[in-house]
Amino acid sequence: MVSLTQVQKNKVQEIVSMMSLEEKIGQMNQASVSIVGGFDVPFEELIEMLTDGRISQGEFTKIMESAEQDYHEEDIRLGRVGSIMLQDAKKANELQKIAMEESRLGIPLIIGLDVIHGFRTVFPIALAEACSFDSDLFLRTARMAAKESRLQGINWHFAPMIDVSRDARWGRVSEGPGEDPFLVSEFAKAKVKGLQGDTSSPMNYVAACLKHFVAYGAAESGRDYNTTSMSTSLLHNVYLAPFKAAVNEGAATVMAAFNDLNGVPCTVNSEILRDILKREYGFSGFVVSDANGIRECVSHGIAINDQDAGLQAVNAGIDMDMGTGIYSSYLSQLVKTGELDERIINEAVERILSTKMWLGLFDNPYVNLEDRMDPIPSEHIQLALESAKKSIVLLKNENNILPLNREQKISIIGELADKSSEVVGAWSISWKEEDCVSILDGLKQNSDNIRYFQTGGLTEPINEEELKHALDFGDVIVAVVGETVNMSGEAASRSNIELPGDQKKLLKMVKTSNKPLVAIVMNGRPLALEWEAENIDAIVETWHLGIQMGNAVSDIIFGLTNPSGKLSVSIPRVTGQCPVYYNHPNTGRPGGKSKFTSKYIDVNNDVLYPFGFGLSYTSFNYTNLNVTEKNDLLAIGVEITNTGKRQGEEIVQLYVRDRVASIVRPVKELKGYKKISLEPGESQIIEFNLPKNNLGFYDNNGDYRLESGEFSIYVGKSSADCLSQTININF
Ligand code: BGC
Repeated sequence: MVSLTQVQKNKVQEIVSMMSLEEKIGQMNQASVSIVGGFDVPFEELIEMLTDGRISQGEFTKIMESAEQDYHEEDIRLGRVGSIMLQDAKKANELQKIAMEESRLGIPLIIGLDVIHGFRTVFPIALAEACSFDSDLFLRTARMAAKESRLQGINWHFAPMIDVSRDARWGRVSEGPGEDPFLVSEFAKAKVKGLQGDTSSPMNYVAACLKHFVAYGAAESGRDYNTTSMSTSLLHNVYLAPFKAAVNEGAATVMAAFNDLNGVPCTVNSEILRDILKREYGFSGFVVSDANGIRECVSHGIAINDQDAGLQAVNAGIDMDMGTGIYSSYLSQLVKTGELDERIINEAVERILSTKMWLGLFDNPYVNLEDRMDPIPSEHIQLALESAKKSIVLLKNENNILPLNREQKISIIGELADKSSEVVGAWSISWKEEDCVSILDGLKQNSDNIRYFQTGGLTEPINEEELKHALDFGDVIVAVVGETVNMSGEAASRSNIELPGDQKKLLKMVKTSNKPLVAIVMNGRPLALEWEAENIDAIVETWHLGIQMGNAVSDIIFGLTNPSGKLSVSIPRVTGQCPVYYNHPNTGRPGGKSKFTSKYIDVNNDVLYPFGFGLSYTSFNYTNLNVTEKNDLLAIGVEITNTGKRQGEEIVQLYVRDRVASIVRPVKELKGYKKISLEPGESQIIEFNLPKNNLGFYDNNGDYRLESGEFSIYVGKSSADCLSQTININF
């Protein structure tokens, strides 16, 4: 919880006691900047043009910037706005001045924005960053984003997005740290610390917003905004776990999810918002709806009209309405007619004002316009490079074709290679193209023997002439393939997660030449790459890595850096396997040779590349797993040796399996990891101390149970490659 001094608490109480009902409701209203005036094409069509790629994100931003905007100045003056979404330091100061000096009680605005993976310095998308398994990195990138954005007047990030996501069809897989509740929880805790932890100056921290509460990642068929249904046990063990961890870390705010959960939209779901979040977890910050979420309860068919939706939402525990104006329109009347208890309003306002107090906004609402960090300071670029390199996962490296040597002639093909605007990933809002390094530009830094051929294949037809030149020139062909930025993120679900366009065809055409082929795959979700995995010599999973993408990829491709990332999410063979994840419950008929077992008749059960998998230019050997019980702990030791020829980093993973329990348990669950660096020939003994308490699970009453019996302990280099030992434990 964010903590206030007694003096600050008293001040909040004093302000609340002076507020009129309308002013209180005003604090519960988040206005979004609305667009006024006309465009050459209707706004809806502009959005469509952005979505189908007719205009780039950069072009869209420029058009939007040229539009006239309504900043709700009058409403702020009248105390009818508590928050706004904005990214303009000068405007932020102007609006704060109105709030502080012209509104009756001088309450500052809390200004929010989607700063999901960096602000001006764009870091890897969360799905990629999670592949580093590096909590210190998670923290440092968040801290830097907090500082950069706070200087621009933003004091609230709609991040971290901590939806466990196991269905690669869902476009928002890109925004979160993957499929495993333990890794997502570690990520969530580090992000909260990074965003909120450095309170040495108000300019150093922002309020985090955990989203989306809850189970949005389980959207049926991977279709965005779709319904979710699940058992209480699954909800607690998987989807709630990261939220609980991050609330314990002191997260200031939470955003409710769009989806319904077991029939009740999260926006009006008091069981999850009041009972679990606020009561059971003791969350004392405030809850904001998702954009337009309250109004959508009418479409869900759970509310008769806007007023009904507003009443249900506020009763369920939504303290702030994002963007609909429904609270402003109806809550006051509902209190006056006695349909809504004013104590609910008071509680919401206290939560909101306490957060503003903790942010230091009453004393420091303004930012210094001189302090712009423009151009980006070099240590920010360094962190962007470090995080990008650590997020890359080497999936295949047949005959050690990588790293490439600088003397080889290299043909680069694929539309994404030279597009600097495609490196940033979904939900990048505050970036500048001049900061972005394309893959082609990055590769050129390390070799003069490179030529780029405009073969098309993604948004354009394949240019066979160019391809022929590429095949003639190169000793090796490097194909940059994958997804454009707008193919992942919100409202970007795909029913087929193979390489889009003609990219696979392009790769097949290269394959007929028998030239060595390397694929650099840049994408916002796991892609089903079965043919590619069988036919391409080397595959480098690079995701969308942020502004330093080109340099990071180049360092890995030419061997200046040894790859160390491990998958935060399973990579399926084919779309039809989705949702697919390593930590699934076992069936009564685990897939086997016999026909009547749980499997498909046309594809293997196993994934192409499992969670936790990733190669290095060196190799590691695991021996001497030793598990002993020590009071409340399991002491787990393992010896790891670098058996290759170069220094490398290894992410050592600890999994457990509860062999028999009162509820079917997952076949493996991550419980810890450590990252080590070893020189060639060097060995190290790694020890984990696993509290026995962590071996329990939530049952279908939502109670945590520790059940005695056999547990298998696994330590290894991926979820599918471990040493194991089974031990009997009595609780
Ligand atoms: C998204 C949220 C986001 C909000 C504000 C919504 O559409 O679901 O994740 O924070 O918009 O931009």
